[in-house]
Amino acid sequence: MELSQRTGIPASRIYGVATFYEQFHLEPHGRHTIRCCRGTACHVKGGSGMIRAVQRALGVEEGETTEDMLFTFETVACLGACALAPVMVIDGVYYGKMTSQRVKTVISSLRSLQEETA
Ligand code: FES
Repeated sequence: MELSQRTGIPASRIYGVATFYEQFHLEPHGRHTIRCCRGTACHVKGGSGMIRAVQRALGVEEGETTEDMLFTFETVACLGACALAPVMVIDGVYYGKMTSQRVKTVISSLRSLQEETA
């Protein structure tokens, strides 16, 4: 609303742009974005287990960001890499044939890397 008042651009137009582009978010976003596929191929290969493992590892639900602002967790209909099912993408890097253990390992590695660079 403030942006609309300052620029004179209707709020509906600003909202339209902000929700159209994937790079814009209306809520604060974590440093890393984890996207899990919930598509059919991934579901058949254990995608729901992968999603639960991410939720357990992060302590957040779909669409939420961790309190430390490190991770935002999202799900998508298909990541276009069905042969690697179940698949998740973190900051554009694909991780295929995910198991609960691999989810824990990948997230732990990212947390460790974050602590080293902090
Ligand atoms: S269904 Fe998961 S990548 Fe296509």
